[in-house]
Amino acid sequence: MHRSGDDRTVDRTVDRTDDLTDDLTDGRTTVGTPALSCTGLTKSFGGRVALDKVSFAIAPGECYGLLGPNGAGKTTTISIACGLLRPDAGVVNVCGEPITDGRGSSMAARGNIGYVPQDVALYPELSAVENLKFFGRLYGLGGRHLAARVTDAVETVGLSDRANDKVGTYSGGMKRRANIAAALLHEPRVLILDEPTVGVDPQSRHAILEMVDRRRSEGLAVLYTTHYMEEAARVCQRIGIIDAGKLVVEDTPRGLTSRLGGSDRIRVTGEGDLVALASACADLPGVGASVVVDGGVALTADDGRQLIPLVVSVAAKAGVSLSSAEVIEPDLEDVFLALTGKELRD
Ligand SMILES: Nc1ncnc2c1ncn2[C@@H]1O[C@H](COP(=O)(O)OP(=O)(O)OP(=O)(O)O)[C@@H](O)[C@H]1O
Ligand SMILES: [Mg+2]
Repeated sequence: MHRSGDDRTVDRTVDRTDDLTDDLTDGRTTVGTPALSCTGLTKSFGGRVALDKVSFAIAPGECYGLLGPNGAGKTTTISIACGLLRPDAGVVNVCGEPITDGRGSSMAARGNIGYVPQDVALYPELSAVENLKFFGRLYGLGGRHLAARVTDAVETVGLSDRANDKVGTYSGGMKRRANIAAALLHEPRVLILDEPTVGVDPQSRHAILEMVDRRRSEGLAVLYTTHYMEEAARVCQRIGIIDAGKLVVEDTPRGLTSRLGGSDRIRVTGEGDLVALASACADLPGVGASVVVDGGVALTADDGRQLIPLVVSVAAKAGVSLSSAEVIEPDLEDVFLALTGKELRD
């Protein structure tokens, strides 16, 4: 399904640019103004088109992933969304306020954004607490309120025990987390993260993903750019794939993978009459192949997740005691390749 050139149009399950009235993937309904909406963003540098009519909107309590290879336009989109770069055409609204008022960035709209740049922007000779107090004062915070916000921000990113150490002594992942704390100080309603986990250790990566998901579930809107498919699938409710300045598709992670039309693979392991189990599974709805493999049964099915409970009950009837069941879905990497004809890490 490779599509190329100018015939590419945005393929969206739901167009939320103007009003958010549709169900999110977890079944909640959000009505009203998007926390962040970008409409028709277009930007060229010299003769090179970096962004071409990019539109998307993010609801409060939603994490939107912008996924694309090097040079796709992710940072350009973010810079415009934060009011740091002026688009040639297009509009950004933050909680209903335009980010630019015709003369420059609107402070009201920018105050609702927490921006985490890809590069760490902290003073290495100062501790995290000293850095955060400095940035908090720039946001107009002070006194006990600032102290409470700093404590909350370092706790949120899991740095409380190192908060008084110099940032220069931190690991790369800890610096990233401190950078995120700085963006959360003023309690923004939209958090924008530019590839926050590149080059971080697994512990920090986990802490960052957990933090993003927790804050999102509390109502924060998140724009999350990444090269990592597994991260996007884990934290994002919707994903837009951007390639060569165009948003080529937008959908839920599950919706994207199901576009491939491939079937899931399921593998169960257990003890008992595996031949009887494989044969009983072959009769279940939506099952393609069902074969005995080493210590278990391997199946292909249209929707692996739906099938698992049926396999469990069939196993009980066949007298097989299951020890594990695993669904292997087509991944977003496959989707990206199918949509753009490129590897994500080009
Ligand atoms: N200030 C600039 N001057 C000239 N060209 C630019 C500038 N900023 C971005 N570009 C170009 O715009 C295109 C999009 O760049 P952008 O930085 O938005 O991509 P990206 O998706 O963030 O890539 P990466 O994954 O490498 O960070 C690229 O072709 C880039 O070279
Ligand atoms: Mg970038």
